Amino acid sequence: MEKIGVFTSGGDSPGMNAAIRAVVRTAIKSGLIPYGIYHGYKGLIEGEIKEMNTHDVSNILQLGGTILRSARSKEFRTPEGRAKAYRQLKKHGITGLIAIGGDGTMAGAKVFANEYPDIRIVGLPGTIDNDLAGTDFTIGYDTAINTAMEAVDKIKDTANAFDRLFFIEVMGRDSGFIALRVGIATGAEAVLVPETRTNIDELVRKLRTFAKRRKNAAIVIVAEGDDAGGAYEIARKVKERGFEKYEIRVSTLGHIQRGGSPTCMDRMLAGRLGMEAVKALKDGVSGVLVGKKCKEIVYTPFEKAVKDPKKLNPLLLDIVDMLA
Ligand code: F6P
Repeated sequence: MEKIGVFTSGGDSPGMNAAIRAVVRTAIKSGLIPYGIYHGYKGLIEGEIKEMNTHDVSNILQLGGTILRSARSKEFRTPEGRAKAYRQLKKHGITGLIAIGGDGTMAGAKVFANEYPDIRIVGLPGTIDNDLAGTDFTIGYDTAINTAMEAVDKIKDTANAFDRLFFIEVMGRDSGFIALRVGIATGAEAVLVPETRTNIDELVRKLRTFAKRRKNAAIVIVAEGDDAGGAYEIARKVKERGFEKYEIRVSTLGHIQRGGSPTCMDRMLAGRLGMEAVKALKDGVSGVLVGKKCKEIVYTPFEKAVKDPKKLNPLLLDIVDMLA
């Protein structure tokens, strides 16, 4: 019977456990032997590898985080590190891998697939950032935006009570997917994302018009990777321009966005993609990200998934302005 390995790597995301469960159970029912690899590529190099049975994944569907743990491995970026990982796979007789993670994980998988073509490897999109091409949504994104939305709703209560302007920073080092949806869903006055240039003077002008319209409070959602800086930096720049209409406060939501029980959407996506990833390996597929686009399962070569980052829908940016 063929042995396959599954691991989670990079920033964890809610729904990773649901994906692991789907992989393990589908593998067993398809006549494969699943192995869990702990701590991502780091654990692969160090041989943290253990056979998994169906009970190992009982009662984890609803849990955030990842039972396989995660890590970011510098060593795997080196040819020597990847050679060690390959030797571990050979030692355990594993011939197929399922890598669950974001763009860094897929970049690692791409290099490994090219260097060691006798190991088949497919990727599953697991990141709260939703910035992987090849899938409409990544596992964990829906939970993260709902967590952030609830937090912003709460901040809005106190912002209104005190007539304040809040700059709220959400995650997204290179992408504004979280910021944009959270901004629209909470009726934010502005959303600042890394994909578009932020002009502070224009932002201040916009905020002044809100004050004239007698809005008693305002919310600006800032993606952490915005070109004008994080929320603290942007708040400082706005203050510097002599903006006195509202008292300013800053809030950074941080890692709260990465945890928690996955939403129904994320559990469904993880279950479906986990099953499809095993099927892909069984069919001899390798070197692709397994995603879902317009309800269809699609395979995107790692090369493309990593090189062409997913674009923000400009229509959503227009919605922010139109509805503010
Ligand atoms: O990639 C997921 C992510 O949560 C990003 O949104 C964020 O920039 C980064 O990970 C934070 O990473 P760390 O947990 O290592 O600080």
